[in-house]
Amino acid sequence: APVELDERYKDSFDIGAAVEPHMLNGKDGQVLKRHFNSLVAENVMKPINIQPEEGKFTFKEADKIVKFAKKNKMELRFHTLIWHSQVPEWFFLDKEGNQMVDETDPKQREKNKQLLLKRLETHVKTIVKRYKNDITSWDVVNEVIDEYAGNDKGLRESPWYQITGTDYIKVAFETADKYAKKDAKLFINDYNTEVEPKRTYLYNLVEELVEDGVPIDGVGHQAHIQIGWPTLTEIEDSINMFADLGLDNQITELDVSLYGWPPRPAYPTYDAIPESEFERQAVRYDQLFELYEKLDDKISSVTFWGVADNHTWLNDRAEEYNDGVGVDAPFVFDNEYNVKPSYWAIID
Ligand code: G3I
Repeated sequence: APVELDERYKDSFDIGAAVEPHMLNGKDGQVLKRHFNSLVAENVMKPINIQPEEGKFTFKEADKIVKFAKKNKMELRFHTLIWHSQVPEWFFLDKEGNQMVDETDPKQREKNKQLLLKRLETHVKTIVKRYKNDITSWDVVNEVIDEYAGNDKGLRESPWYQITGTDYIKVAFETADKYAKKDAKLFINDYNTEVEPKRTYLYNLVEELVEDGVPIDGVGHQAHIQIGWPTLTEIEDSINMFADLGLDNQITELDVSLYGWPPRPAYPTYDAIPESEFERQAVRYDQLFELYEKLDDKISSVTFWGVADNHTWLNDRAEEYNDGVGVDAPFVFDNEYNVKPSYWAIID
């Protein structure tokens, strides 16, 4: 039987990993070439990295990932054109340098809205034109739902929303569609897409976009999940819901934390994690990939939010919630790039 992850799932979906440019050489690079046929940038394609100042586009780091993907014939997802986080402040300042969200005059508010939509268009257009031949899937908007926002549609009250309503979402998709390759896919990406009430908020928004003729192709499910949460039924239902709208699904940021939320208490070092935890995690990975495979006509790609346990945002979270000492172990390769029980679980 083949032992490369991408080879194992080649009849079902792509297998991807999130990377920083420095990971492309050395051990991560070797694992990437051997086991993965798709990539996404963990940070360097976010707005703050691509256009830190208005009109000053910096593609150097992003280009390294594009080049590696091309050279190794890998698919590339773009993460992310529009987001409320890791976005430079200048987007939301008016010509006088005031916060647009503070504006109360209706006429000026309308002007601000047009200015912001124009900036959004320029941002999206410049990136999509540059990478149109390299990117097969675009995260057009990321995390626009916030179940705690307190409005009846669960729309995140980011500056994007406060200044433009939901127009920023529509303009982002329309602009991406205008400049992307015709067969590229445009995604709305979010976390906790499996759990209520967020799932329904997202569904209602996506349904509205589809009805309005907004060019959206699929839903990206980040899948920052835990060993016992959410349930397999919740995961399956959410894939089916969006597929029933005629949309593609991608798993875009998969990691399986050993902990609940918040991640406390956490193991202080990697060596302190007992083997039984890895076995418990392997059962989860086994069930998860069995489900993904069963739904493979509705899922076109499964991307891990990293490669091996030595580099994961969850380690930062584990530290943060445990007085600076704590590690997580969310992937199928351990902190020295050896395969874990979770690897065998998804191969077999
Ligand atoms: O680059 C600077 C470095 O110069 C500085 O010394 C260092 C000090 O803290 O920070 C570095 O920037 C960090 C950056 O990652 C690159 O390592 C930021 O502080 C840190 O906040 C940032 O975290 C990223 C996070 O998004 C930002 O919100 C994580 O790496 C990244 O994994 C995470 O990814 C997100 C997805 O985009 C969206 N879905 C959730 C997912 C996990 O939070």
